[in-house]
Amino acid sequence: DVMALVEDIQVTSILDNEASLGPEDWADSAGSNSIYTAILSRNETVKDAKRLKTFLELRDKYVHKKVLFEDPLFPADDTTLFYSRKCPMKFEWKRPSEICENPQFIIDGANRTDICQGELGDCWLLAAIACLTLNEKLLYRVIPPDQSFTENYAGIFHFQFWRYGEWIDVVVDDRIPTCNNQLVFTKSYRNNEFWSALLEKAYAKLHGSYEALKGGNTLEAMEDFTGGVTEFFDLEEAPKELYKIMRKALERGSLMGCSIDVFSASDIESRTEVGLVRGHAYSITGLEECEQATKNTKIRLIRMRNPWGWVLWKGPWSTNSEEWSTLCVADKNNLKKQTVETSEFWMSFDDFKKNFTKLEICNLTPDTLQGDWRHSWTVAVNEGRWVRGSSAGGCRNFPDTFWTNPQYRLRLYEEDDDPEDEQVACTVVVALMQKGRRKERSKGAKLFTIGFSIYEVLNHSMRGCNQHLQKDFFLYTASKAKCKTYINLREVTERFRLPPGEYVIIPSTFHPHEEGEFILRPIVFVSDRAHANKEIAHDGILGERKKKKPKVKQGEKHEETEEEKQFRAIYKQIAGEDMQICANELKVVMKRVLDKHNEIKTEGFSLETCRSMIALMDTDGTGKLNLQEFKHLWRKIKEWQIIFKRYDQDKSCSISSFEMRNAVNDAGFQLNSQLYDIIAMRYADEHLNIDFDSFICCFVRLEGMFRAFKAFDKDGDGIIKLNVLEWLQLTMYS
Ligand SMILES: *[C@@H]1O[C@H](CO)[C@@H](O)[C@H](O)[C@H]1NC(C)=O
Ligand SMILES: *[C@@H]1O[C@H](CO)[C@@H](O)[C@H](O)[C@H]1NC(C)=O
Ligand SMILES: *[C@@H]1O[C@H](CO)[C@@H](O)[C@H](O)[C@H]1NC(C)=O
Ligand SMILES: *[C@@H]1O[C@H](CO)[C@@H](O)[C@H](O)[C@H]1NC(C)=O
Repeated sequence: DVMALVEDIQVTSILDNEASLGPEDWADSAGSNSIYTAILSRNETVKDAKRLKTFLELRDKYVHKKVLFEDPLFPADDTTLFYSRKCPMKFEWKRPSEICENPQFIIDGANRTDICQGELGDCWLLAAIACLTLNEKLLYRVIPPDQSFTENYAGIFHFQFWRYGEWIDVVVDDRIPTCNNQLVFTKSYRNNEFWSALLEKAYAKLHGSYEALKGGNTLEAMEDFTGGVTEFFDLEEAPKELYKIMRKALERGSLMGCSIDVFSASDIESRTEVGLVRGHAYSITGLEECEQATKNTKIRLIRMRNPWGWVLWKGPWSTNSEEWSTLCVADKNNLKKQTVETSEFWMSFDDFKKNFTKLEICNLTPDTLQGDWRHSWTVAVNEGRWVRGSSAGGCRNFPDTFWTNPQYRLRLYEEDDDPEDEQVACTVVVALMQKGRRKERSKGAKLFTIGFSIYEVLNHSMRGCNQHLQKDFFLYTASKAKCKTYINLREVTERFRLPPGEYVIIPSTFHPHEEGEFILRPIVFVSDRAHANKEIAHDGILGERKKKKPKVKQGEKHEETEEEKQFRAIYKQIAGEDMQICANELKVVMKRVLDKHNEIKTEGFSLETCRSMIALMDTDGTGKLNLQEFKHLWRKIKEWQIIFKRYDQDKSCSISSFEMRNAVNDAGFQLNSQLYDIIAMRYADEHLNIDFDSFICCFVRLEGMFRAFKAFDKDGDGIIKLNVLEWLQLTMYS
């Protein structure tokens, strides 16, 4: 698996979730592409408060005006119902009070009987909601409960969803599509309860229309409700410890759903001989292991729910089947008591594995669960970007650029190990999600084909630090684990068992140069001791000088070298009496000096670069350069030129922008990955190369800005405070 020998494979998904991708995702505010949002850290507390304020403000305003809210962003007309075709029937939008008497938001707590599927193929969504009702805390995070049709009623409701790393609040009015005074889509078993219908509406708004909810993937909805990390299992190739994985998942409060794949449209919602519905999403609500007294064996049973609200299952362990007589009375009563008669049923775990083809698990993060579960696992949320020319390195089939992808360290300790396991290994789930592609769909953007690989860091001198691993490391080290394939899904998730150690995770797109944002979430189970996941370049202080600048000893006499004599001569000719040169003159001087140094093939420097050079060296504030300053500058340029040559291996007089991070490091600057991205964006040409002029220009600027910072940072604490004029002076002159 050394890189020269491996080939990463990509596959194209034609999954059902394609259909669930809505048109414009207006609420998707998290996917902002501005480089500045990536740099500025977010203050979630403030944001949270602000979001809530919008809802409360709106509600109070309408309560005060005594007018019912009408949502301009999701109008009650055909455009929000269907986008691809005309409405199949005539719908009437009605408020609950027009549909029935005494409408209620939630009656006696929300429970899973409140969700009955309507005319829309969104059982995947309902299965996710049904799972959600099993956990009150989760449910009331999504459905803020203090809403009603009596107190402070203004026809406005709100719900909260998780989008790409943060919770957003979605406001809706309470006009719901009906036909013959019946709700067309999701409804409650009781005709005067409306939370489920309004939740569906809010979710439809998030996706642009009701139709956008048609056909989907339970995992996506579960993630949007919980911020959890979802996993997918193909039951035909399920790991042998599947029962244990599922039991632990239930213990941790994870949500689970399962389904039977269909291979043609006509199969959708067709039934198997035993009464299971194909292409339909069931939720899994329990697992039990019981003694079968009459057979002297143990039997594993699984409890499921059909989101339609009724049971069609007629196989073994269905309501009146004879298998129940094999259990002792206590077990039997206990199990039967657990089911909600109308919609839940038991089946044997073996039949479950044979009859269903897909299992989805949504592992809730400690953040969602708020406290109780903290000791079960840790999750780290790393936001990152692939930037063309700097960190969009592609998969391992592109060894020249693969190493430039963002790298994340993962440290696993003995204590993370599951004590029930025989081998020493830690369970890790790694989830890589691409952000914001859906928003770009109207511009023709498709999901990228994404994936990741994991390398173990064995060399002790590379451990413990967050040094970016270089090309050679990947050329000569085999990967320890990787996702099965690169695939065009919103998220790629995979579960691994790894021995304790230090690892580096490399998320990438399949092809290099594809720009995008992503979230990488590794979950480490069992212990809270794994201090995982800091992006390598993100440690410590932004941009730090490694070396001290060599001090120029004052007053020290030295013989003028041959080169310096030449400078003096050139200077004399161009600068005139005062021996000072301006940018135009520096350009001429540089050209002449460079002509004498044929190791640098260049046309000379641009006027802009010369201006920056003067700004950098101009210590006396004259805007000009004297001979002393020039000599200084020249020494720097020669240092940088040596570095340039090191990376210009093909002597093309330009270097690949991907190499720039090493060049910058060699010169003694330590930056973070965002700065490397910025440098690539700012200085590379359209072929992702940086020529000598841009290269020097970049270094001049870096050097100059560091120096300016130092000058402002009088107490040396690494923080400066500038007013706008000082800021402008600093940035406009350099
Ligand atoms: C976020 O904002 C709150 C309220 O202004 C403040 O108390 C808190 O310190 C801020 N947190 C960070 C990390 O800046
Ligand atoms: C759901 O609510 C109904 C009405 O309050 C109640 O009869 C039923 O027992 C509840 N189901 C569960 C599983 O709590
Ligand atoms: C589904 O379960 C039934 C009931 O035990 C079993 O007879 C049948 O073989 C299973 N179906 C498949 C496709 O294995
Ligand atoms: C470990 O890394 C250091 C520094 O990168 C290197 O000098 C050394 O040769 C490496 N040792 C091994 C055994 O690869």
